[in-house]
Amino acid sequence: MEKDVLTGLSQMQKSLPSKYFYDQRGDALFQAIMDMPEYYLTRSEYEIVNQQYTAIAEALNPKGRLDVMELGAGDGTKTNVLLSNWLALGMDISYTPVDISANVLKQLQQTFKKNLPDLSVSPMQGDYFDVLEKTKGNANQRLILFMGSNIGNFRGPNQNAFIDAISENMNPGDGLLVGFDMVKDPRTILAAYNDKQGITKAFNMNILERCNRELNADFALDEFTHYPIYDPHTQEARSYLISNRTQSVHFPKSDVHIALNVGETIHTETSRKYTENDIKRLYKRANLNVNGWFYDCKHYFVDCLGVK
Ligand code: AVI
Repeated sequence: MEKDVLTGLSQMQKSLPSKYFYDQRGDALFQAIMDMPEYYLTRSEYEIVNQQYTAIAEALNPKGRLDVMELGAGDGTKTNVLLSNWLALGMDISYTPVDISANVLKQLQQTFKKNLPDLSVSPMQGDYFDVLEKTKGNANQRLILFMGSNIGNFRGPNQNAFIDAISENMNPGDGLLVGFDMVKDPRTILAAYNDKQGITKAFNMNILERCNRELNADFALDEFTHYPIYDPHTQEARSYLISNRTQSVHFPKSDVHIALNVGETIHTETSRKYTENDIKRLYKRANLNVNGWFYDCKHYFVDCLGVK
């Protein structure tokens, strides 16, 4: 973490990797974000899986057992809805959550054991692509889930490489269901990252707090402003932390001092928004056929099914 943090803070445009939001406190804050009135994304996708599970299954049309593999399942609430409805339809499914964190997988397994005791759950710990490659030879058809607009958090062109690499590890007939947040009124988007209660501010600040807690850095937390923007031209919501004064931050382990000018920004997160054409391009270059667009009633969010 220290190496990544110092690399990010040594760039001309200072940045911190958004994966470091998610420690125990960050997970709890993100959970609170998903319940906020302004954060429409989770509610929209919940509506999609809750109301369109039959249409999603029909678009995939599994022949035998379907192994549902989920990359970064979070707390599993939406997946739980999707899979319980599919079980009720009589579908033959198994579930493989994939995560780098053993702790996340343990919690998910307990949740699913409690809520869906009949579902066969086999968590796999590790890097997404290693796991997909390892399971490519299995006989069952697979549906890979990458939901919750996580795709939007890639910076620059990395989202292309990510979808390409998933597709390379898919067999003909396998499906990929990705959750995309769509472009819409910029004010609606910005409000989702700038809530009135200040929960997103606490989430953003947690990355500096974590540096202080875990790396013994000395960020003067009161001297930063949480500053999210939405740029409709690039279709990116971006979060920044702005230094309110000239300050120097010390990382004792490496004995490195980072200088921040008054008004200088640290870029902490990108949350990209999509048009249908963006999604079509993303799937086309990865050789996936688009087999279904599943929207919420406001057309704020889409779960798009690509099939190899
Ligand atoms: C996890 N990810 C999809 C969220 C998003 O909308 O980009 C993280 C988040 N950041 C601030 N609010 C929510």
